[in-house]
Amino acid sequence: MTTTAHDLIFLGPPGAGKGTQARWIVEALGIPQISTGDMLRAARKAGTPLGRQADAYMSAGKLVPDEVVVGLVAERLREADCAGGFLLDGFPRTIPQAEALDAELARHGRKVGMVVALEVEDEALVRRLSGRRTCTACNRIWHLEFDPPPAADRCACGGTLLQRDDDKEATIRNRLRVYHEQTAPLLAYYERQGVLRRVDGSGAADEVRRRVAEVVRGR
Ligand code: AP5
Repeated sequence: MTTTAHDLIFLGPPGAGKGTQARWIVEALGIPQISTGDMLRAARKAGTPLGRQADAYMSAGKLVPDEVVVGLVAERLREADCAGGFLLDGFPRTIPQAEALDAELARHGRKVGMVVALEVEDEALVRRLSGRRTCTACNRIWHLEFDPPPAADRCACGGTLLQRDDDKEATIRNRLRVYHEQTAPLLAYYERQGVLRRVDGSGAADEVRRRVAEVVRGR
């Protein structure tokens, strides 16, 4: 592996638009999107020991233990498609996860190139997450009001749309509390490393896309 400027992280509270914005960035840069949330949901669906371990934490809106997630990401980063860069979406989420990532990258002569932090007010996040629907076939993310699908339960690809079980209001509020307590300290961590770029994540998805494109192109 070699050092690359395409070692990117998307940081932000639940519903900030990490998944939505990641979709076009990975296409534009030709790098893989590594979403720990998606990986854990896939393990849960497949009923693997990892998925069973993660299930109760996820349903309650709590973080899965660091050692579980760190091992999962370290293994994924060693795959060949990450050699030219990657976009981490939803990882790291705690200081120990960030330190483990730095150590793993350093072992391969790499370091984090840029952390894009999407900033959105809590009440807007609750609205975004309450209306989110995800396609079980192609993983496309929709919003019933802001990015409406062809039908409430049907994706453009024909797949079925589902609401995530952690997108109920009480669980959303718990996820936001967990974000402010355990993940927000990463902003200072990456600011000290000089790689943090704060982006206003409010407003329409296209406006946010323009702001993200500016910082990623200007790196
Ligand atoms: P994860 O899947 O990572 O969820 P999250 O971080 O809570 O983020 P979300 O996927 O909910 O939001 P997003 O920012 O991607 O928003 P999106 O683009 O979908 O994690 C789930 C769980 O897994 C965690 O709670 C934890 O238990 C576990 N986990 C995962 N990683 C872990 C880790 N590293 N350590 C420990 N545990 C871990 O957008 C949301 C909605 O808004 C969509 O409907 C979208 O269409 C809409 N939208 C997007 N942008 C806009 C806009 N600009 N205007 C209007 N609507 C918009």
